[in-house]
Amino acid sequence: MDMENFISLAQIDEATRAVQAKITVQPKVGMILGSGLNALADSIQNAVTIPYGELPHFPTSTVQGHVGRLVIGQLEGVDVLAMQGRIHYYEGYTMGQVTLPVRVMNRLGIGSLVVTNAAGGVAPQFEPGDVMLITDHLNLMGMSGLNPLMGPNLDEFGPRFPDMSQAYDRAYCELARQVAKTEKVKLQEGVYAGLSGPSFESPADLRFLRTAGADAVGMSTVPEVIVARHGGLRVLGLSGVSNKANLDGSTITTHAEVMEAGKVITPKLEKIIRGVLREM
Ligand code: HPA
Repeated sequence: MDMENFISLAQIDEATRAVQAKITVQPKVGMILGSGLNALADSIQNAVTIPYGELPHFPTSTVQGHVGRLVIGQLEGVDVLAMQGRIHYYEGYTMGQVTLPVRVMNRLGIGSLVVTNAAGGVAPQFEPGDVMLITDHLNLMGMSGLNPLMGPNLDEFGPRFPDMSQAYDRAYCELARQVAKTEKVKLQEGVYAGLSGPSFESPADLRFLRTAGADAVGMSTVPEVIVARHGGLRVLGLSGVSNKANLDGSTITTHAEVMEAGKVITPKLEKIIRGVLREM
């Protein structure tokens, strides 16, 4: 294994200093906004924006629907740092690059991460437009050798073998349920399966995932959550169900459909995230 493929603490700190040089606030909460769900960052007040391209070692987002910049400011009076556009492994970046922004959040002193994504609904009762609280994940990328923590352990962040028994913070889950109830947003919940993509799943893949206990499937989130937990961040995860998974091969899934569903999902996610931020 070539050690030069891994992101070092020095590189993380170089990127962190570049962010610090452009902001005066100390963000408390990090947010990663998924496909079609970027609009929430436009609601951030007193925003400072930093394109990923201006930050050393940062990968840039190449996917349509992912803007590719940090937005730092206030949401519900809380200092937040949002990734408007995430980086995916399938774009060709290393796992270290994909998760570098989370390392930077950690070094900036951020203690909580709100992570969102667009996902296919595997659970039969899920409908496009639903929001799912992520209560656990299936790390299918990691099981097949793509864990973002592979390589030398960065002891400054956490242990070699970090626990994942409660990756999604139970208190945050409870908070999200309460907010959803108050705001009258239907909130599904379940297990998110993270695959590398970029091809969508075959019907056999999807039947396998269903049997394995997946309720939603997507191409992100799990690497970022593992790195966040390694560094001790508390995580809230929300999936927007953009399409019903096609377990019998009778329909097709398209990126356009995923982007379109984002328009219905964003206002629901926004209500939940704002409510949670008020109570965090
Ligand atoms: N599969 C994987 N990723 C996705 C899907 C899907 O059906 N929908 C949105 N992201």
